[in-house]
Amino acid sequence: MTAAVIGFPECRDPASRLARELGIPFSEAEVRNFPDGESLVRVTPCTGTALLYRSLDNPNAKLVELLLAAEALRENGAQRVVLVAPYLAYMRQDIAFHPGEAVSQKVIGQLIAERFDGLVTIDPHLHRIARLGEAVPGIPALALSAAPVLAAALDRDRRPLLVGPDGESHQWVDAIAGPLGLDILLGEKQRHGDRDVDIAIAGIERAAGRNVVLVDDVISSGETLIAAAGLLFDAGASAVEALATHCLADAASLARIEAAGIAPVRSTETVAGPTASLPVAALIAEAVRGEGWAQPEAPA
Ligand code: R5P
Repeated sequence: MTAAVIGFPECRDPASRLARELGIPFSEAEVRNFPDGESLVRVTPCTGTALLYRSLDNPNAKLVELLLAAEALRENGAQRVVLVAPYLAYMRQDIAFHPGEAVSQKVIGQLIAERFDGLVTIDPHLHRIARLGEAVPGIPALALSAAPVLAAALDRDRRPLLVGPDGESHQWVDAIAGPLGLDILLGEKQRHGDRDVDIAIAGIERAAGRNVVLVDDVISSGETLIAAAGLLFDAGASAVEALATHCLADAASLARIEAAGIAPVRSTETVAGPTASLPVAALIAEAVRGEGWAQPEAPA
């Protein structure tokens, strides 16, 4: 009985990279979509720990298929089913902002806690809670930081100026710049709507003549990057690039980011797309090994 990685078709490359990194088998979950919109999921049985790999961008159908796969793995003998969701959805809505709204974080967190024996994710979007375990109670819930992956992607010889465009990004800027001794600027953001943000960056005059790297956890509409880059170019920055853990931006948003002069934009492979060039297999493998989830299981 050994551990195995089971990945969904759209995650084949990163999931199989994780399996190789761990030295355990990889198999692909088969998904058949019926004309009525239902899904049929088939998995290769695994009798040890099943590491079920799927990123939860565009999460709704993916979540249902994950539940089906987890149940099929258990029914077919898996001792433990661990969800590896490098991007974890539904973590932002952690309170009801208006009467009648569902608290999505609580609903989805509890669903995962009931159906899986463990969770591994990277840089979940947690605002008002300190630990992922508060959202996903009762199972080991690991929130890894992509900061080392982002730091390794920097061209340190250029001594870039790292800029965090808003309060939430500051922790990544500090984690990356601190060990490398790089200069930083920290911005503050006011969001008025999905595509309407105001940013102020204290000390922005220090960007004059510098190669700037904007650092953030998530790129979604791209408006945060675009607003920050506008200020930085006005202040005389020579070049502005972007580095983020998760890039959820669609093609139109990426085109707007490019038109704003931000290049290159690089993100980790937690969300597939043209910017997703930074692998996270080694980061996840280290955490999985640390939990003992990649070890052969002792006979019962
Ligand atoms: C803030 O909540 C995050 O750190 C990101 O800055 C934000 O999600 C980016 O969103 P957008 O690309 O839509 O401006």
